[in-house]
Amino acid sequence: MALSNTPIRTSNRPTVPLSEPQPFDRDLEFNQADFERVRRLIHERVGIDLHPSKQNMVYSRLSRRLRERGHLTFRSYLDGVQSGSDTDWQEFVNSLTTNLTSFYREAHHFDVLAERLRHIRSGDVPRIWCCAASTGEEPYSIAMTATEARVGSTSAVVHASDVDTDVLATAERGVYSLESVAALSEARLRRFFLKGSGSNAGKVRVKPELRAMVTFRPFNLLTNDWRMEPYDIIFCRNVMIYFDRPTQRRVLEGLYACLKPGGLLMVGHSENFGDHRDLFHLTGKTVYVRSGT
Ligand SMILES: C[S@@+](CC[C@H](N)C(=O)[O-])C[C@H]1O[C@@H](n2cnc3c(N)ncnc32)[C@H](O)[C@@H]1O
Repeated sequence: MALSNTPIRTSNRPTVPLSEPQPFDRDLEFNQADFERVRRLIHERVGIDLHPSKQNMVYSRLSRRLRERGHLTFRSYLDGVQSGSDTDWQEFVNSLTTNLTSFYREAHHFDVLAERLRHIRSGDVPRIWCCAASTGEEPYSIAMTATEARVGSTSAVVHASDVDTDVLATAERGVYSLESVAALSEARLRRFFLKGSGSNAGKVRVKPELRAMVTFRPFNLLTNDWRMEPYDIIFCRNVMIYFDRPTQRRVLEGLYACLKPGGLLMVGHSENFGDHRDLFHLTGKTVYVRSGT
């Protein structure tokens, strides 16, 4: 393929080529009906509302799966996914998520988090949920902030989840390139990371104490089961941007159900839920507080 294949950096998983294959480069059969089927399936399964312009992205993300499974057409691959196992579905979903993230992304949220944590009594253990955790930079940033903010008290319980099991595996490993921690202060690097050697040379690993603060599990925000012990703070950042409005409402209702009264909801820089004042109202830049009692 005569392509510029420079990757856009998506944390540890650079999967989005800057220039995607043009139709004449395609060696696997992929037509409009296949694309519409992918759009429908991913929307039904995880709520992602794929833009009609994303044909090339879908082709480039899924064609590897087709080859691995020996399919020559998208139709036969999708038939296989639909009649296949949970693993086939999971691979399909993992291929289509976008996982861009970084340590202390949208840094102002971590100042708000630290402030809120300082006001929780030292005997209480704050509960924080990071529900689109991607490769782990976000939940580890939360755990570092909690450790720094709650000197002398139990720092926090941090639950991290994502629908994509590949990124969760990376998150659980807690190994990152030096480049991805380049913006962290020397003090944080020394306190929270170990420098890799041997096969991990050029990388860092989160220290066991930090790793132990975070529990990872798969969770689909499209679930109907929101029964869980309520949280003080939820980070749900840069994921609802991929959902349509009815799906956003459905997820907001779920998040409302599992936040304590007065609890905080952090959302991404381009996400705005001002229309849902019965559930949340804005209290700072992209910081919402749960409405009601
Ligand atoms: C762009 S990343 C954002 C990561 C992080 N929250 C941040 O702001 O840096 C979006 C993440 O949402 C996850 N995601 C997409 N749909 C989801 C769903 N239905 N349930 C849970 N996670 C989902 C993707 O797998 C991806 O890791």
